[in-house]
Amino acid sequence: MTLLTLFPLLYCVFVLTITYNPVTSFTSPTPSPAKVCTLQNSFQPAFVARGDYVIGGIFPLHYNQEMPDLNCTYRPPPVNCNGFDPRAFRWVQTMRLAVEEINQSTELLPNYTLGYKIFDSCAYPLTGQRAAMAVLNGLNEDDTPLCSGASPLLAVIGESGSAQSIVVSRILQPFRIPMISYFSSCACFSDRRKYPTFFRVIPNDDYQVTAIAQLLVRFNWTWVGLVRGDHEYGRFAVQGLLRELQDTKVCVAYQEMIPLLYNRQRALEIIEVMRSSLAKVVVVFSAEGEMTPFLRDYMIQNITGIQWVASEAWVTASVFTGSEYYPYMGGTIGFGIRKGHISRLSDYLQTVNPQMYPNNLLVKELWEALYGCKPSLSSSTQLPLCTGQESLLEQHSAYMNTSSPRVAYNVYKAVYAIAHSLHNLLLCQPGSGPFQNNSCAQSNNIHPWQLQYYLQEVTFNIAGEEVNFDLKGDSIPYYDIINWQRGTGGNIEFVNVGLFDGTKPAGEELVIQEDRIIWAGHQSEVPVSAVRRGEPVCCFDCVPCDSGKISNQTNSIECTFCPEDFWSNKDRTACIPKEVEFLAYDSLGIALTVISVVGACLTMAVFAVFFHHRNTAIVRVNNSELSFFILFALTLCFLCSLMFIGEPTPWSCMLRHTAFSITFSLCISCILGKTLVVLAAFTATRPGDNIMKWLGPKQQRFIIFSCTLVQVVICAAWLIDAPPFPSRNTQYERSKIILECSVGSSLAFWCVLGYIGLQACLSFVLAFLARKLPGNFNEAKFITFSMLIFSAVWLAFIPAYISSPGNYADAVESFAILASSFGLLFCLFAPKCYIILLKPEKNTKQHLMGK
Ligand code: TRP
Repeated sequence: MTLLTLFPLLYCVFVLTITYNPVTSFTSPTPSPAKVCTLQNSFQPAFVARGDYVIGGIFPLHYNQEMPDLNCTYRPPPVNCNGFDPRAFRWVQTMRLAVEEINQSTELLPNYTLGYKIFDSCAYPLTGQRAAMAVLNGLNEDDTPLCSGASPLLAVIGESGSAQSIVVSRILQPFRIPMISYFSSCACFSDRRKYPTFFRVIPNDDYQVTAIAQLLVRFNWTWVGLVRGDHEYGRFAVQGLLRELQDTKVCVAYQEMIPLLYNRQRALEIIEVMRSSLAKVVVVFSAEGEMTPFLRDYMIQNITGIQWVASEAWVTASVFTGSEYYPYMGGTIGFGIRKGHISRLSDYLQTVNPQMYPNNLLVKELWEALYGCKPSLSSSTQLPLCTGQESLLEQHSAYMNTSSPRVAYNVYKAVYAIAHSLHNLLLCQPGSGPFQNNSCAQSNNIHPWQLQYYLQEVTFNIAGEEVNFDLKGDSIPYYDIINWQRGTGGNIEFVNVGLFDGTKPAGEELVIQEDRIIWAGHQSEVPVSAVRRGEPVCCFDCVPCDSGKISNQTNSIECTFCPEDFWSNKDRTACIPKEVEFLAYDSLGIALTVISVVGACLTMAVFAVFFHHRNTAIVRVNNSELSFFILFALTLCFLCSLMFIGEPTPWSCMLRHTAFSITFSLCISCILGKTLVVLAAFTATRPGDNIMKWLGPKQQRFIIFSCTLVQVVICAAWLIDAPPFPSRNTQYERSKIILECSVGSSLAFWCVLGYIGLQACLSFVLAFLARKLPGNFNEAKFITFSMLIFSAVWLAFIPAYISSPGNYADAVESFAILASSFGLLFCLFAPKCYIILLKPEKNTKQHLMGK
């Protein structure tokens, strides 16, 4: 679209270029030698003045433009703008005043004059674009400046709204013409790659949104609404504000956008949202253009109690100072652009009147807007004719408000910035200039990019205020805090109640005189805009902290970790010491204890039975001494399991595995001895054979002793080198500390178990070999069986042990000990006890030896 619109106007430039260049190989599309350059469309400037150097000005002299005529059967009529804006007219006059001052000055640009061309943008990007084209072009066919040498247009002052400035900047960019905006604050301009020739004398909105966020936090307004206009300014500002609010307790209840083409239906919907929301504070990023109709509809709805937070674009707009606004808009607070003082402004503004500018349409419109009369018969409006006695007074504040110029002061600064840069440029000493080969710009042929260099560098003082541009073209961030209070006439006055200075260190920027503020509804108390207790609307869904983290206040946005050894309670509000777990005397512990005590008692009972019947055949045949050994060892085994219950201490940890492994070793050694004896006795063919000699009681004791000794040695080595120790396991379950015995050396642990396993296998093999030997009471059968059970228990133990957590591993081990001990006890001794106690008649040597 941009290119298409560019075409008709550039066409003139294009045609001229070829005509001036005789060696061109192009053929002109419509060569007409007499008059080559024709303006395709004309656009009348608001004000022009000739000068050695010309600066452009683009101002939104109207609020609005009418829908363009889309019928293409005739030449399109000029765009119709409506809604004359006296405020922008004042800015135009300020620019003219500044130029005049500079031209009269003997210090600034003494031998040169500045000229200007000022156009109306109708506060609309497309018209702004046309204004930018018109600024570039000559005013008529004879005045085609771009065609001869450097452009006499050096810089442009404009535009007001960011949306228009974006378009203007894009058009000026290819020509490298710098522009200084007096009101475009959008943060988007900070991208130097997109807007290389853009400068501004208004702070970047990044500062404004920080300031507004600080204001909301300061007054504890945690539930607010956002309304914006449909333009870059609104879009970027809301984006920035949301970013600033992210880490604060302020929540946004709703975000609404007033459409670009004002639509009453939509506006009423927005107003309904505002009415029904609990958010009583509404932040608005828009300008008079859309605020005027919006506020009209808002006031018809008769809503009160809204505290407005205004952006810099409308917080000082004089259109809203009428007394009818006070009930609805009084108390509005916002950040206004820094004000300044222009001493001659008031006088200068009064020089404008229809007599002095009989042909200027804008002056006519000003008169119509201020006095409601038409200054001459020629205008088509229905208004009565003016008397000619009208004079400009302070009360025509829309135009005459000169007590605290803000945007006008920006315009003033912008003109001076250009003048100072130009002045510095002309002061350049040949041979020590900033350009290639230390050259200077030629005063009769200054290129706009050369001026841009000086603009970037310029610093000057204006009424004590320093003006300069940073590398992004931005200026010093400073705002006044403005509060809308009732003036003497019932109308609204803008009262200064504080300031925001972005150059101060973080946290000190905002200074508010709270006692001077009058809030919405003529209140002196800060209005509340927070989510109320007991009401469900909340911008957060509160969720409890993760386990292990706590937060001790509701609505907080962060959870904190509990220190080590501490864990969150159920409500996640406090850290409590972690639960310490071990196999205690709870139900499991007690069960295990009972079982082991019962086992030990049973073994002792068997011991007693055997001892009592020690002279009967069955006891004697079966190697009574070894049986007593086994029973003794089994008792110890049962008792061993008790060591796994209770809080682990260094001693209990060391004892646990060693005691258990040694008693088990002893027990199985005895069984091994027994098997050997059985095997030897039956394989010996003749009585008194050698083998039996080798397996006498002494040798048996020796075998048992040495087999056990191996285990003792392993255990001793283990205890000396890396003894088991109590440890706190926090890995397995993060909410608990599991007290367990760390084995110290797992090699030793598995060696000890492995050795028991080895012994068990050996006895199993031997007993298996002996199982078929004759005799009614061949013990080998029972030993085989007991070893099978034993192995089964311990094989099952390994996976169970490895996969059980902390205290359960102890329970598993203890259980395995008990199970295998019972296995041994029953398999080895139950049949014998049965015979001894219930079948004493079978307890004879004959019976036992078979036939
Ligand atoms: N700071 C605003 C901007 O950058 C000021 C403004 C002027 C504005 N005219 C506007 C905002 C029109 C929205 C619409 O745009």
